[in-house]
Amino acid sequence: MKALILAGGFGTRLRPLSCTRPKTLFPIVNKPLLQWIFEQLARSDIKDAILAVNMQTEFYIKKQRIPKSGLRIRYSIDPPKTPLGTAGPIKKAEKLLDNAEPFLVLNGDIFAYVNYEEIVAKHRETNALATIALCEVEDPSRYGVAEITKEGLVKRFVEKPAKGTAPTNLINAGIYVLSPEVLSYIPKGRAVSMEREVFPKLAGEGKLYGHVISGVWKDIGNPEEYLQTNKIILDTLAKTQKVCAAGKFEIRQPVALDKGISIGENSVIGPYAILGKNVTVGKNVQIRDSVIFPDAQIDDYTMIEGAIIGEAVTIGKKAKISIGCIVADQAKIKDGVSLAEGTAVCPAKEVSENHLRANIIF
Ligand code: GTP
Repeated sequence: MKALILAGGFGTRLRPLSCTRPKTLFPIVNKPLLQWIFEQLARSDIKDAILAVNMQTEFYIKKQRIPKSGLRIRYSIDPPKTPLGTAGPIKKAEKLLDNAEPFLVLNGDIFAYVNYEEIVAKHRETNALATIALCEVEDPSRYGVAEITKEGLVKRFVEKPAKGTAPTNLINAGIYVLSPEVLSYIPKGRAVSMEREVFPKLAGEGKLYGHVISGVWKDIGNPEEYLQTNKIILDTLAKTQKVCAAGKFEIRQPVALDKGISIGENSVIGPYAILGKNVTVGKNVQIRDSVIFPDAQIDDYTMIEGAIIGEAVTIGKKAKISIGCIVADQAKIKDGVSLAEGTAVCPAKEVSENHLRANIIF
């Protein structure tokens, strides 16, 4: 069985961090999301994965050299400057897909400890052309919502219903099994939305089924969800992970420290701090509820809380980075700078003045 991973979106809700990295390469507890996906596919005995990307995403993914977990990886690339949406890339990959067997489609921005085989088995049991994994959430208004019968037949599929109008709390988990016939429902050569065009049509014809999944499922689409996903996985891993750094600093678990990290005296790391490879932290620094990407340097007496700090960012002495801040790759925050809650700093930007109201610093 083959899997197609959709990974060629623009990740606009994760800007400016996604300006220099596709969502699927965002680290989840120091491992790119795509690597978690490869491992999960390999566990489900899937041997073949097709990455549906754009040219830029392909470049970043190849550069990252993710371990492939024994999978054969091929790329299907959207035409230049013509994003194909969530269904168009599946049509584009038609020749790489098996035209006799159902195949799996995964959104590349979803973290899921899910048994794919169970969804495939459900697909084979019914006369479905498509089977969507459904996940129960509190607020379904940001997702595609399905209303199903006892047998799992999708009676209705509504994309992003207005708050309070969703027929159920069962949302499209971004994981589907499709029979090859579905390819004939997707027009060629233009952007097509799986959620708005293909699923409603299949539902209308009684050919769309849903399968409710359990287990960890998280969408990393926006900064809060990204941080929350890291927290949840950190909690899960904390039980098994050993912290290997030692010195005159304090670790407040749960914390994840990658290789090559140095931490100065009296610094307090955690709870919920994730530090990537080769991050250096000075003295008397406090970091909590935050993800720090590799190679960042954080100088003495700085405080970081509830923020995402990009790769190779430098933060000077006595800086204050507040909740909801995003500092994109290579940015430089100078000594003494305070960033108000929700401030976003663009890649490679130097910031030498305080920003007391949330804004985007270009
Ligand atoms: P936002 O701009 O923040 O909504 O992000 P997005 O468009 O990247 O993600 P969205 O959740 O809308 O899409 C679901 C999945 O489909 C993600 O894994 C995207 O990478 C992928 N995707 C979205 N649009 C395209 C596209 O035009 N081409 C390809 N190949 N993949 C896409």
